[in-house]
Amino acid sequence: MTTAPAARESAVGTARTRVEGRDKVTGAARYAAEIPFAGLAHGWLVLSTVARGRITSLETAGVLAMPGVLTVLHHGNAPRLNADYIGLLGVPPDPTCVVFQHDRVPFMGWPVALVVAETPEQAREAAEALVVRYEEEPHDTAFTRDRPDAYPVGGRMPAETRKGDMEAALAASAVVVDAEYTTPEEYHHPMEPHAATARWDGGRLDVVDSNQGATWIVGELANLFSLDPASVRVRSEHVGGGFGSKGIRAHQVAAVMAATHLRRPVRVVLTRRQMFPLAGHRSATIQRIRLGADTGGRLRALEHRSLSHTSTVHEFVEPSTGATRVMYDADAHHTANLVVRLDLPTPTWMRAPGEAPGSFALETALDELAEKCGIDPIELRVRNEPERGPVSGLPFSSRNLIACFQEGARRFGWADRDPRPGLRREGRWLLGTGTAAASFPVMALPSTAAVTAEADGTFTVRIAAADIGTGARTALTQVAADALEVAPDRVRMRIGDSDFGPAMIAGGSMGTRSWSWAITTAAGELRERLVPGAGIPPEGITVRSDTTEAVGALAQMERHSFGAQFAEVAVDVTTGEVRVRRMLGVFAAGRIINPLTARGQFTGGMIWGISMALHEEAVRDSVSGGHYGADLAGYHVATHADVPHVEAHWIDDPDPHDPVGIKGIGEIGIVGAAAAVANAVRHATGVRHRSLPIRPDRVILAGTAGAGADAGAGAGARAAGEAHA
Ligand code: MOS
Repeated sequence: MTTAPAARESAVGTARTRVEGRDKVTGAARYAAEIPFAGLAHGWLVLSTVARGRITSLETAGVLAMPGVLTVLHHGNAPRLNADYIGLLGVPPDPTCVVFQHDRVPFMGWPVALVVAETPEQAREAAEALVVRYEEEPHDTAFTRDRPDAYPVGGRMPAETRKGDMEAALAASAVVVDAEYTTPEEYHHPMEPHAATARWDGGRLDVVDSNQGATWIVGELANLFSLDPASVRVRSEHVGGGFGSKGIRAHQVAAVMAATHLRRPVRVVLTRRQMFPLAGHRSATIQRIRLGADTGGRLRALEHRSLSHTSTVHEFVEPSTGATRVMYDADAHHTANLVVRLDLPTPTWMRAPGEAPGSFALETALDELAEKCGIDPIELRVRNEPERGPVSGLPFSSRNLIACFQEGARRFGWADRDPRPGLRREGRWLLGTGTAAASFPVMALPSTAAVTAEADGTFTVRIAAADIGTGARTALTQVAADALEVAPDRVRMRIGDSDFGPAMIAGGSMGTRSWSWAITTAAGELRERLVPGAGIPPEGITVRSDTTEAVGALAQMERHSFGAQFAEVAVDVTTGEVRVRRMLGVFAAGRIINPLTARGQFTGGMIWGISMALHEEAVRDSVSGGHYGADLAGYHVATHADVPHVEAHWIDDPDPHDPVGIKGIGEIGIVGAAAAVANAVRHATGVRHRSLPIRPDRVILAGTAGAGADAGAGAGARAAGEAHA
């Protein structure tokens, strides 16, 4: 299948600034918390200050007498919700979102009440004045490797995969790596905090929200409030980042509840601090990898076991071994994702869920193996390229990993690298380079779209897509223009409205692919309907598409994007400072629709990888069960000065089975990025860091190769990273 037009120049593949860019920089684009409504009231959530227990009383009388206060909703007066359903994403609702249904408190920051007032200031003041008493119970937030209550959890993928005799294969291996890797709790924190306004409008529930998929939120709200989905409308025209955090959350449900109770529009916005317990996060992980290889580096044994945590009320697993099932084969191959339930908030999808922490462990272990075998790390990967899916046995739809390494090595200057660690020095800095592989699944899910030929010769596309800052709106405009064989400026792209019909969410790196499929299908049929020379009626001519059948007909294959990450670091072992000097990624990630916004996706992921390698870590206080410094001062992220020179490139890699050739680019940029940085730190200092982030204190304590053993939770020194102690 191809959409390449014959006569005119393709819009796909050309760099274009965002179609809504001017609106965004001039402030004309309005976000969920900025859209005015007559008679708007403001809700402020009250969160638990204990990590486990029971609410014994809420002293609402005084608060209700405060200026502007309209109501206080809590478990004692809130309407009952329906939580007995399986949502669009195949899981029951997280009880954290099913607000005010009982007096139990399962973690610090659990929503216990909503104070609604005439102004946000009044609501906040009253919420802070609300006295809530608890019967506190001892909590358990200890995330440690040997939890007897850990258990395997699947989901979209099996919890465990196993082939061959692991112990025999390890015993027969000339070279063995056995190490533990840890990653801390990490948080997404998109620039725009979560915000929703709910109101009843002529018998319909109308919600203006910031989310990753209007169809998804409609389904959840309709289920929770026992409404006909047709009577619920969710709009999210502009979304200031999501990264997996913007699904159904407590604030939307609380807003709908209050709007229903008060019969007027109610807005609920999360603060940064409230986002920590309520917007999801990436679980910490403790991962153990065992590799066995022959002297030539060919894998005989590969075992990857990952432990993550979830809340006591909802099961979510960080599937860190997913990529291991795709990347490398071995006679004995064993992977397992385990979870332990703790008195902590529920984690969620966060950019490359599973792949991001999993690739840190796997790609660091591969680097350790290369070093033990005395083989270049790229050559090691060449020698371990599988013919078929290591676990599935299925063929790859395309696999251009080695081409990415070759192109990356050429651009990065890898051939000049002396593999011996600790040799390059520049004043107080030790210099090193590292590399790592990346992969991410390629998927599509059903969507519907409507394309209208207008009487004035323009076209309007309507699809419930979400542009969460990725540039999806612009990419879809380019795709539609090519499918309609017109210039992009004749295409009007309307997105972010559930009334446009069901569509895939912006998630799993499959939004633009899934939506483009639907748009291309509708546009193709519309072109067949248009008679050259014939007029178009005033209401236009509209064609609708539904890709359910076409997407369902895709054959079972291993479908993935691939990439190669390279990093150069400078380390001062006296101050513990690690500076990334340059970073380079080469990706095979399908046809690139818009090089400008695509580069932003890749480099954004890579920068997050730097941040993951060196900065990000939410630290828990075991006494309170809450965080130290739950804000963006206490939670460090890479800022401009930490990101000197980041380059992303791609090779020609159109997906053979997608109508447009798209694979998806939202997440692969972060995969392998932290491992590339950590491998470069090893090359610079001779010390292997197996616990993220590679903080100054860890670097100082570890010193250099001459000074002592490796840092972190290695197999020899099985001390947990401090963050998990
Ligand atoms: Mo992404 S973590 O699938 O929003």
